[in-house]
Amino acid sequence: MCGIVGYIGSRDAYPILVNGLKRLEYRGYDSAGIALRTNQTQVFKCKGKVQDLENHVKGSDVSGTLGIGHTRWATHGEPNDANAHPHSSMNNKFVIIHNGIIENYSTLKEKLEKRGYTFQSDTDTEVLANLIEYIYLKGGVSSEIAVRLALTKVIGAYGLVVICEDEPNQLIAARKGSPLVVGVGEGEYFLASDATPIIEYTQSVIYLNDNDVAIISRDELVLKTVQNGKLTPHIQQLDLDIEQIEKGGYDHFMLKEIFEQSSSIHDTIRGRVSTKNNEVFLGGINDVIPKLVNARRILIIGCGTSWHAGMVGEYLFEEFARIPVEVEYASEFRYRNPVIFKDDIVLAISQSGETADTLAAIKLAKEAGATVLGICNVVGSSIPRETHAGVYTHAGPEIGVASTKAFTAQVTVLTMMAMVVGYRKGTLPKEEYHKLIQEFGKLPAKIKKILEKDAEIKELSKQYVDSTNALYLGRGYLFPVALEGALKLKEISYIHAEGYPAAEMKHGPIALIDEQMPVFVAATKDKSYEKIVSNIQEVKARKGHVIAIVTEGDSVISKMADYVIEIPETQEALAPLLTVIPFQLISYYIAVLRGCNVDQPRNLAKSVTVE
Ligand code: F6R
Repeated sequence: MCGIVGYIGSRDAYPILVNGLKRLEYRGYDSAGIALRTNQTQVFKCKGKVQDLENHVKGSDVSGTLGIGHTRWATHGEPNDANAHPHSSMNNKFVIIHNGIIENYSTLKEKLEKRGYTFQSDTDTEVLANLIEYIYLKGGVSSEIAVRLALTKVIGAYGLVVICEDEPNQLIAARKGSPLVVGVGEGEYFLASDATPIIEYTQSVIYLNDNDVAIISRDELVLKTVQNGKLTPHIQQLDLDIEQIEKGGYDHFMLKEIFEQSSSIHDTIRGRVSTKNNEVFLGGINDVIPKLVNARRILIIGCGTSWHAGMVGEYLFEEFARIPVEVEYASEFRYRNPVIFKDDIVLAISQSGETADTLAAIKLAKEAGATVLGICNVVGSSIPRETHAGVYTHAGPEIGVASTKAFTAQVTVLTMMAMVVGYRKGTLPKEEYHKLIQEFGKLPAKIKKILEKDAEIKELSKQYVDSTNALYLGRGYLFPVALEGALKLKEISYIHAEGYPAAEMKHGPIALIDEQMPVFVAATKDKSYEKIVSNIQEVKARKGHVIAIVTEGDSVISKMADYVIEIPETQEALAPLLTVIPFQLISYYIAVLRGCNVDQPRNLAKSVTVE
C-alpha cells in the first residue's frame, strides 16, 4: 500500500525513481510524485498513474542525483494532486514521502494549527512533515534529531523518507510497520518499499526493522533506533533476478503468473518433497513439528486469497493430522478478544508478508503465548520476521494485484505441512503419504496440461463478458476454490460473484438462479461427486448456465452442464491446486474482454499495510 523509492548517489535520480515507481505501482496507483534535489528541492506530483506523472514532468528540469518518489493508495483524503506525495512542510524545510497511517494525525494537526501551521492537503503525511519542521525550527536541532523526535510523537505505522532543505546530501529513512529496504551500492544507496526496484542496481540490501532510522549520505549509512541507540546495519544478499519481475512477453503480470504455476509449484516443493525417498522435509518448521503433532488446535489466520488457502489448510490438517482447525480473518480475530491457548499453534498466511491485520493478529497470538508459524512468499518481509518459524512459498515475485501463483504455493505448503504432521502423528497412513508424495511430483506436468486449454478458456469466457452476477460452487476441498474463483472474478472484472458450498445453495442463493446466471462449479471426481452432480441438476432445473470443471473422461456432468473444462485426475486433497487454474484463467479473460486493467484493478493495492 503506497510505494516508496529513494536514491542518493552520482547517477541521475529521475529515471531510477520513475522506473522504481513503475515496479511498485502494484502497491497503489491513485497518484504519483517525485522530489529531486539540485540547488533546491523540486516537487512534481499529480493524480493518476506513474505514466501521468511522466507526462506531467515533460519539459521540466529533472536533473539531480538525490531524490524520492511515491505512488499512492489513498487513505486520508481523496486521490488528487494536493494529496499526492511528496508533501512539503509549510516553510519548505522538509519534503517527505510516507507509506502507512499516522493514527493521531488530527490531534497533531490541531496542535500545529494552534502554532500557526496551515495545510495544503488532507493527508496525515503533511502533518508529519510539519511536525518535523516545527521541532527542527523551534528546537534548533539537526534534521535527524527533528525526525527522530517527531516519530516519538507519532502513533501509527510508517515507512518514510525525508529530504531536508538544509542538508542537500542526505536522506533520512525510517520504518515502523510499513516495509522499507535499502539497496547498498558503491557510493550510492537506493530505497524502496520492496526489493523489486533495487535489484537491477544491486543485490546487497538492508531490511529496516521497526523503529529503525537510517541517515544516508552518498558514502555512509548510519543506522539508529528512533531513541538514538546505535545499530549495526545487517547487509543481506538478494536471490532475485530481473526476469522474475518483468512481464516476459505476456500481456499482463497476472497471465504470466498464472502460467508460471507449473514451475512455481515445482519451486515450492523443490528440496522439500523427495519422490525418490518418499519424504517430505520442511526445514523451516522441522523443530516445531513435535509441537504440531501434539497440538490441541491450530488457528489459521489470513486475509483474502490467503484466507482461502487457509480454508484448504483446515480440510488438510483435519483429514491428515486429525487436529481441529479454525480459520480466521485476521481483521476479525484481532479485534474479537479471541480465546488463544498457550498450546495453540497459530499459522499466519500471507503472500506479501506485510498485511497489517495479519501482522497485528500475529502479535496478539504471540502475546497470548501461542506458537506462531508463518507461510509467506516475500523473503525478508515483516511476517517471517515476526513469527517463531515458518515456510517460504518460493513462488517468486507476484506483481499482478490478483493473487494466483501465491495461492497455489500457499496450498502446496499447507499440504506438505499437513502431510508431515499427519505422517509423524500416525494419522496419515504410510501408503497414503507415499501416494501423495508421488502425486506431488506429477503436479507440474498436470498444471501444464491445464494451461494448454488457455485458448479454449479464452473462447468460453467471451460468453460471460456481459454477465452482472456469477455463482461459484464447490464441496469439500473445492469449496474454498469456489470462494477463490468468485474473488478472482469480482476483483478484476467488477462482476458481482459469490462462492458457496454447493449444498448450501438451496438455503438461499438458489433464488438468484435464472438463465442469465453463470454458475461455475468445481466438480472433479471425489467422494462428494454424486452430491455435486445433484447440485448441478438443481441449477439446471432452474435454467442456470453451468460451467463445470471436471475430471478428464467425465461422462456424467458433461451431459448436464452447458460447458465442461476437463482437468487431469489427481488425489482429492490435491484437487484445489488444479481446479483453481481454469477459474483464474476465466476471470482473467473476462476482465480483459471487458477492458479492465487486470494488473491494477480499481481501488485495490497488492500489499494492504493499513488495517
Ligand atoms: C486477492 C488478493 C488479496 C490478498 C490479501 C492478503 O487476489 O490478492 O485478497 O490475498 O490482501 O494479502 P497477503 O497474502 O499479502 O497477506
